[in-house]
Amino acid sequence: MTDVSSAPQAASDAMATTGAGQDMNGASAASAPAAASAPGAPSAPAVPSNGKKPWETLPVTVKVNGVSHGPMDVPAGLMMIDFLHETLGLTGSRLGCGQGICHACVVIVDHADGGCETVRTCITGANYFDGKTVRTVEGHAARDADGKLTLAPIQQAFLDHFSFQCGYCTPGFVNAATVLIEGLKRNPVARADLEAAITAGLNDQICRCTGYVRYYEAVRDVILKTPGCIKDAK
Ligand code: FES
Ligand code: FES
Repeated sequence: MTDVSSAPQAASDAMATTGAGQDMNGASAASAPAAASAPGAPSAPAVPSNGKKPWETLPVTVKVNGVSHGPMDVPAGLMMIDFLHETLGLTGSRLGCGQGICHACVVIVDHADGGCETVRTCITGANYFDGKTVRTVEGHAARDADGKLTLAPIQQAFLDHFSFQCGYCTPGFVNAATVLIEGLKRNPVARADLEAAITAGLNDQICRCTGYVRYYEAVRDVILKTPGCIKDAK
């Protein structure tokens, strides 16, 4: 039976071994413009005759971890996680499923009213964040003038509780837990409702190493130690 999945690779290999722009018989292939280029010359992107750019661009001005970026134009299809990684050099946000399911890639968007929420960067274009204020996992720890790093309480708690194994999901958990804790400071819950609040706050975060119990314990510890999160705290 023919392996359909390998056909494109086989064709590619054939092109590589016979020379780009030629078929197996040595005849010129369809890529005539490439054949017209001078040997060794860098290939220029095709520019349509109407003079427009080959892709649509959209504006982005965004504040990330207190630093303003832009204004700049980005490709309309550029996802925020690629903008963070490739344009801003912030590689802490993790690309997991890439389909909006695992929430490993979430960042925090801060709103003018003091509220905040997580947003999935693998399925959200960079342009969506135009004019917004964002926190990534790189924005939680504090570094003093001597370069000494102090982790945020939730980061320290995840370490203390051995919450993660590979750590791939951890940036997402840090951000989701931060949104949960800050939300509880604004709207405290009764102690009896805390477990449900933690579940609601972290339910979307998937950990392939199944560190849920220790993640949840760490978040509960931080909440109980954070003044103002529990209505009936003694
Ligand atoms: S990587 Fe974004 S939701 Fe999984
Ligand atoms: S610690 Fe490995 S995916 Fe969560």
